[in-house]
Amino acid sequence: MPRPGVPDPYRTKARTEGYVARAVYKLKALDDKYHLLQAGQRVLDLGCSPGSWLQYLASRVGAGGLVVGVDVTPPAIEVAPPIHFVLGEVGGLDLDAVSAISASFDAVVSDMAPRTTGIRDVDQQRSLDLARNAWEWARKLLRPGGFFLVKVFEGPGVEALARELEAAFKVCRRVKPPGSRAASKEIYLLALNRRAEVVKVKKINIHHKDTKSTK
Ligand SMILES: C[S@@+](CC[C@H](N)C(=O)[O-])C[C@H]1O[C@@H](n2cnc3c(N)ncnc32)[C@H](O)[C@@H]1O
Repeated sequence: MPRPGVPDPYRTKARTEGYVARAVYKLKALDDKYHLLQAGQRVLDLGCSPGSWLQYLASRVGAGGLVVGVDVTPPAIEVAPPIHFVLGEVGGLDLDAVSAISASFDAVVSDMAPRTTGIRDVDQQRSLDLARNAWEWARKLLRPGGFFLVKVFEGPGVEALARELEAAFKVCRRVKPPGSRAASKEIYLLALNRRAEVVKVKKINIHHKDTKSTK
């Protein structure tokens, strides 16, 4: 974290490059490293305001793609295609307004953060709840092969969530992009290549009747 009075280089860069928040550089660093985004993709951005991820996502998916943001606060940027915005609380799990725009997505990203209280355990639990809410949405709306990126504060429960993602995706990594402040407990779980749901079919033993003539 920059010392008091010393300008944050990411904030200055964001202002110069026309982004509404420094958070954009976390997503951009991950995209540069893992080649996440492509033209034409449909991306769901949970906790999208003020909107720097929306700006970056729109520039990467282009006019043929789609970016749907959800937040309890409207974004501070102009909302125009390919960007759409749905006002709402992710915890309520009312998917209708989102699935009316697109029933499935190539990527679900969540930068949701709780209002911090300063009480470490409380903040961590709230962050974990938000990350789990985001996973619920991704479970319903992310297509097989798609990726899921979610912010969470390190602490109890993160390992269990990471294990669930490891089972549901081919790869799951814990990442701390350079724009994330070293002092912050936040990390991101990046889960790549969602596995197709395996439909368990119960094995039924069929006993064939003896068809031989008894004559
Ligand atoms: C760190 S900001 C996201 C910054 C954003 N990625 C950007 O680039 O501008 C976190 C956002 O999560 C939102 N948020 C927190 N809890 C939420 C919830 N339960 N449902 C929807 N949005 C939520 C907040 O309103 C806030 O706008």
